Parts: sequence; C-alpha cells; structure tokens
Amino acid sequence: MENIVSTLVYILLFFSTALYYYLSKKQERKNKGRAKLPPGSMGWPYIGETLQLYSQDPNVFFAQKQKRYGDVFKTNILGCPCIMLASPEASRFVLVTHAHLFKPTYPKSKEMMIGPWALFFHEGNYHTHLRKLVQSSISPEALRKLVPDIESIVISCMETWSSGLVINTFHEMKKLSFEVGILAIFGRLEIKYKNALKENYSIVDKGYNSFPTKLPGTAYHKAIEARKRLNQIIREIIWETKEKKILDKDLLGYLLNYKDERGQTLTEDQIADNIIGVLFAAQDTTASILTWILKYIHDEHKLLEAIKIEQKAIYKLNNRGKQPLTWAQTRNMPLTQKVILESLRMASIISFTFREAVTDVEYDGYLIPKGWKVMPLFRNIHHNPEYFVDPKSFDPSRFEVAPKPNTFMPFGSGAHACPGNELAKLEMLIMIHHLVTKYRWEVVGSKGEVQYSPFPVPLDGLPAKFYKDSTNQ
Ligand code: HEM
Ligand SMILES: *[C@@H]1O[C@H](CO)[C@@H](O)[C@H](O)[C@H]1NC(C)=O
Repeated sequence: MENIVSTLVYILLFFSTALYYYLSKKQERKNKGRAKLPPGSMGWPYIGETLQLYSQDPNVFFAQKQKRYGDVFKTNILGCPCIMLASPEASRFVLVTHAHLFKPTYPKSKEMMIGPWALFFHEGNYHTHLRKLVQSSISPEALRKLVPDIESIVISCMETWSSGLVINTFHEMKKLSFEVGILAIFGRLEIKYKNALKENYSIVDKGYNSFPTKLPGTAYHKAIEARKRLNQIIREIIWETKEKKILDKDLLGYLLNYKDERGQTLTEDQIADNIIGVLFAAQDTTASILTWILKYIHDEHKLLEAIKIEQKAIYKLNNRGKQPLTWAQTRNMPLTQKVILESLRMASIISFTFREAVTDVEYDGYLIPKGWKVMPLFRNIHHNPEYFVDPKSFDPSRFEVAPKPNTFMPFGSGAHACPGNELAKLEMLIMIHHLVTKYRWEVVGSKGEVQYSPFPVPLDGLPAKFYKDSTNQ
C-alpha cells in the first residue's frame, strides 16, 4: 500500500514538474525585455532535493544555493516556481512594506484540515478583524490573569515526569501546550469536552502530514473524519456557553461577541475553524521550542547554574513555591529571557514561510512573476554570521544588544506575524522556572540529531529522565 502511494506520488511529481518546465519556458519567452528573473536553477528540478527539503535540515538545501546565487534566487518546490529570500531587506519587503502584493498560500489539503475560515488563510477585512479578536484574548492584560492557571498546568504536567521512567520530552510538551491552548481559547473547560477535543484533535494531528487521500483507513481520512467531530464538539460548547450567558474574556468569548459593521456575527464554522487554527498554531510550535530549551540548557552546564541562581531567588521569595509566581516576576527574569530568545534563534522552528505574488512584482531589479511563491528564509537569516556572530554557538549574551533590524523573526513579521508570541514566551518562562528550581534531568542517548516532524525537534522527541531535586532545595 505505502509503496503504491509513494510510486503514485513520484509519477505525479514527474508530470507536474514536466508541465511546469514547459510553462516556465513559455513564461521566460513572455518575460523577455522586462526585469529579469533572479538567478538559480529551474531546469529539471531535483525531486530528491524537494523531498529532502521536508525531511532534512532545510538549511543545507538553501545554504548551498545561497552561496552560489546570492540572497535572492529561484528554484522550484514540488513543481511550484519559488523565489527564495535570504536577506532581512527582502523579507521585510514581502512581509511588511509590500505585503499587499503577496497573499498567504497553503496546500489545499492543509487548509481543509485546519478549516478554510482560519485567519491565516485570509487577507483584508476578515483577517484584520479575526486577528484583533485573537490579540485581545491574549493581550498583556489577559495574559497577566492567566499566569496562575498556566502555572498549575506546568506543575501538574511536570509531576507526571518524575516517575523514574524515560519520557519523550516533545510528547509531554505537546500535552502541556495543548492544555494552555485550551485554557486561552475556552477558559476553564468542562473535562468531558476537553477530553473529547483532545482525543479527536490527536487523530487530526496524526493525519495532518500524511498523504492526502480519500481512501478509508488511511491516516488522512481518519483525520478528516475526526476534524468533523471537532466541529460538532465546538458547536456543543458554543450552545452551552450561549445558554449560560457568561461572556468570558477568552477567545471563544471574543468570537461569540463579535459583530461586524453591519451587525453580522460570525458563523459557527468560522468560529470552529479559528479555534482549531489557533490550537494548531499553538501546540507543536510551543512544544518544539520547549523541548529545545530543555536540551540547550542541559548541554550548557555553566549557563544552567546561572539560570538556577536567577530562578531560585524568585522561588525563595515565593516561600519555596508555596506562593504562586506573579506576572511581575515573569517580567523580571533577564537571563531566562535571553535564553529564550537564543533558543528561538538557534532552533528557528519556523524555518521559512510562503507567500504568493498576486501580481508581477519587481524587487531589487528582479522580476517576481504573478503566481510565483516567495519564501522568506528565517532560519538562514538567523544563522548568518553577518548578523549573528558564531551562529552555531548557543550564547544568550548576544541578546544583550538588540539584533539588527529585521534579522530576528522567530515569530515572523508584518500583518501575519504571530499574535501568540507573548503567550508562548510566558509558557517558556514558567516552564523554566519550575524545571530548574525543582528538577534534575538527564537526556538519554542524544547525539544532537534532529528530526523534522515537520518542525525541527531533537531526535525521538528528546528522551529524558526527570528526578525531583532534593539536594539543593
Ligand atoms: C514558540 C512558539 C511559536 C512560534 C515560533 C510561532 C511562530 C509563528 C510564525 C513565524 C507565524 C507567521 C507565519 C507567517 O507569516 O506565514 C505565526 C503565525 C501565527 N501564530 Fe504563532 N508561533 C508560536 C506560538 C503560537 C501560539 C502559542 C499561538 C496561540 C495563540 C499562535 C498563533 C498564531 C496565529 C493565529 C498565527 C497566524 C496569524 C495571522 O495569519 O495573522 N502561535 N506563528
Ligand atoms: C470524538 O468526539 C466525539 C463527539 O463528537 C466523541 O463521542 C468521541 O468520544 C471523541 N473521541 C474519539 C476518539 O472519537
């Protein structure tokens, strides 16, 4: 079965690239006399390379091309003509100053899985309004109130780790970030709903990166079915919330209260798609970076000791954890803050993003033809020695001075930049606080290898053992 599917994929890839080759030759003839396309190899694309891009360190693929062609170069990915942008200026052009010339673009199968109304597929008015609702639900004011609940989630997740058994760190971090996602979206949600969401969402999650096919029994098909059940569960939660008439300041509350200029409210599908969209955007990203943090500070012994000093001072002030962490305390963890920024840079879990030119665009003397994809390469920029000296070494002190403009974009930039960045950082701060004040941990058998799922994660999710630290309390 798997063999037939992959053979089919190859055949499809072959025909789509052949077609593409023909069309691009035609386009080249049409484009004569105008600004020229950027350099790069477009010829028969390397199917192997394309597949590599999704299964290995994308930096290897890009860095070679960048060396050869410069910061702006063309290539093609899965038969789509693409222009890669490895400079801060070019990324800013596409994402910020000329964002109106580029639209978000995702594979149709992913759009269907998350839900077509989710804000990241949209532009213009609808996007702006939905984005404001998400931002309001996790404004600094809202986050301040969430600190105690996030802290309880972190504490109870960690309690389960110190059983002496080897755990899959990424897997555990996913549980943590899911709980926090649910909290930000629904406030305190009834356990029966939470479990139904959790079970069905994990089926969606498993099918998300599998081959899109309607064949029953495949991971993709199961995921589509589970996705339908998620809508049903969210619909029930909406009915119950409306009945209770409690207008909470969580995301669901904001979505239910929204009325546009003409007094129109959002449909249940629009609400459900945006809820699943936020859960999706929040879970693996945050879990991946939490896992990386654990690895980085495990590997840097001196740094870990310094973080412990910062965090234990707060722990003692809080009567050895008997009093909860406060928002103000989370704002005053200068070393831990820099560790987080450096982890975001090193791991660059969102290695790049895609946009599509809505019209012919000229950038720096080059033509970006209408319909072509552009890819700002965040990870390349974050690992360019011109902007980050000795980029391979983990050095939080580099953030004592602000990075040069547009060189640090772990959360993207412009109209679609991550609205969840402060929530994600708050989770990291709270996790680190409890981790280093109460636990020791050992990474089991890690050789520094990376796995792409599709975010970079340490191999096998960083297997580790946790111990309650009784020695230096
Ligand atoms: C460390 C964790 C996270 C990272 C690295 C991250 C990164 C990003 C990036 C790079 C983008 C922009 C993508 C683009 O321009 O194409 C983005 C968008 C987004 N993120 Fe995050 N994110 C994280 C956590 C979260 C969390 C916790 C939430 C939950 C609220 C969230 C919600 C969103 C949403 C809704 C968008 C789409 C925004 C739009 O299209 O206007 N993210 N994220
Ligand atoms: C999924 O959601 C439905 C409700 O629509 C629920 O009955 C079921 O237990 C959930 N879990 C699974 C694994 O289907």
